[in-house]
Amino acid sequence: MITASAPGKVILFGEHAVVYGQPAIAVPVPQVRATAVIAAAPHAGVLLQAPDFGQSLWWHESPADHPLGAAVHALASQLTSPERAQLTHLTISVSSTIPVASGLGSGAAIAAALIRALALHLGRADLATPAAVSALTYEVERIHHGTPSGIDNTVVSYEQAVYFVRDLATAAPDIWDRLHATGMADLPVPALEPFAIGRPLTLLIGNTGLSAPTKESVGDVRRQWLADAPAFNALFAACGRIAQQARHALAAGDVATLGRLMNENHAVLQQLTVSSAELDALVQAAQAAGALGAKLSGGGRGGNMIALATPTTAASIHTALLNAGAKHVLEMVVG
Ligand code: MEV
Repeated sequence: MITASAPGKVILFGEHAVVYGQPAIAVPVPQVRATAVIAAAPHAGVLLQAPDFGQSLWWHESPADHPLGAAVHALASQLTSPERAQLTHLTISVSSTIPVASGLGSGAAIAAALIRALALHLGRADLATPAAVSALTYEVERIHHGTPSGIDNTVVSYEQAVYFVRDLATAAPDIWDRLHATGMADLPVPALEPFAIGRPLTLLIGNTGLSAPTKESVGDVRRQWLADAPAFNALFAACGRIAQQARHALAAGDVATLGRLMNENHAVLQQLTVSSAELDALVQAAQAAGALGAKLSGGGRGGNMIALATPTTAASIHTALLNAGAKHVLEMVVG
């Protein structure tokens, strides 16, 4: 029996703009994880089980866009025929404590855990490395998110804080052309860099309880960008500048600047139309309770927000978030 797991993730800076080539910063959330277990079974075929989601189905009968089936396919695409022949007499069970459709990367973590476990089961350690798991998880993310930047699969597969700039070669074909055509061609080169945190950060993650598929908010931003590229390019560039400044503030342990940058990033995300009354209420409640900064995190509209606290303010911000309607609040220390 082989088990592998992957953590949740939270984006600190740069969501949405990262889809268009701007830098973003994200960290793993190790308190919540997805786990995959591969077990030998008496039956022919591969049985996929996700009891948390009430699912049990055969891989060969799973639709092409089924999250678990697609993860097995992604790995199978890298196997030799004799290895593919070993994909039988197996039960793959997946469980997760990561809230679904909340911006914590549940889909990416489930795919990453499954791909890593199955690669190890087949003796393909080369396909279980962070880089290989991330690349294969990206293929699964594409099915569900359309034009993902790749930051989610990267953070959950590498399990470390990253400064990330997507490779625009993976973007939808028209994105690169249009960025050129609208004066945004001078973009940073792709980057995947672990960053140093100068001082531990106390973060609170407040969940609105509203499920908000990333695909929809990403699609809405895309439609608006196509309708008014100059305005949206300027907003993406503003997010990119904030992420770059945040990287320096993180390295320097300058939490006051980080907090201010989070507030600024939230204001730009509001202009990108990805906030919501619920997210704004939680952000304001955190700020009023003494957070150094707060912003929505991930796809927006629902899902999560994050607040930067100190060890002494964390408890009162936690309470303020619950009073303002948060369904759950996770507390974590990064760095
Ligand atoms: C989702 O976690 C982050 C977004 O920037 C989408 C993406 O990067 O693919 C909203």
